[in-house]
Amino acid sequence: MARLIKLKSNSDVRGNLTVIEKILPFDIKRIFYIYGVENPSIKRGGHRHKNTIQALISVAGSCVVDTDDGREKKTYLLDSPEQCLILEPEDWHIMKAFTKDCVLLVLASEYYNPEDYVREEYK
Ligand code: TYD
Repeated sequence: MARLIKLKSNSDVRGNLTVIEKILPFDIKRIFYIYGVENPSIKRGGHRHKNTIQALISVAGSCVVDTDDGREKKTYLLDSPEQCLILEPEDWHIMKAFTKDCVLLVLASEYYNPEDYVREEYK
């Protein structure tokens, strides 16, 4: 099931430094980021995975993530670099409502493999 975790930040007059350490339920094998989504009606994703666990962090701007684990649908607003959304393999998801300045950082537990994708929605 998808869940939000709060990342630890070190903030002072010089700004903020947010750390991801010993908090993810996987070792990171892949990092990608989505940015430059100019149209707020764009929807990305639309799949779940066979094995991959992911951690999503909107490091700038904001976006919305709809999730469905087959039992429950939930919607998350990612609007803080301190929020990290963990998506388990069974969490079918779309990302939407990107602000133009959104940079969505994704940390993944597996190397990219198109065969790891399941595109069908739960009935
Ligand atoms: P896509 O799966 O359509 O992104 P999203 O799920 O956000 O809608 O990926 C866009 C393109 O990037 C597609 O050609 C596959 C490629 N890609 C990689 O090469 N490596 C990756 O790790 C990812 C996530 C995508």
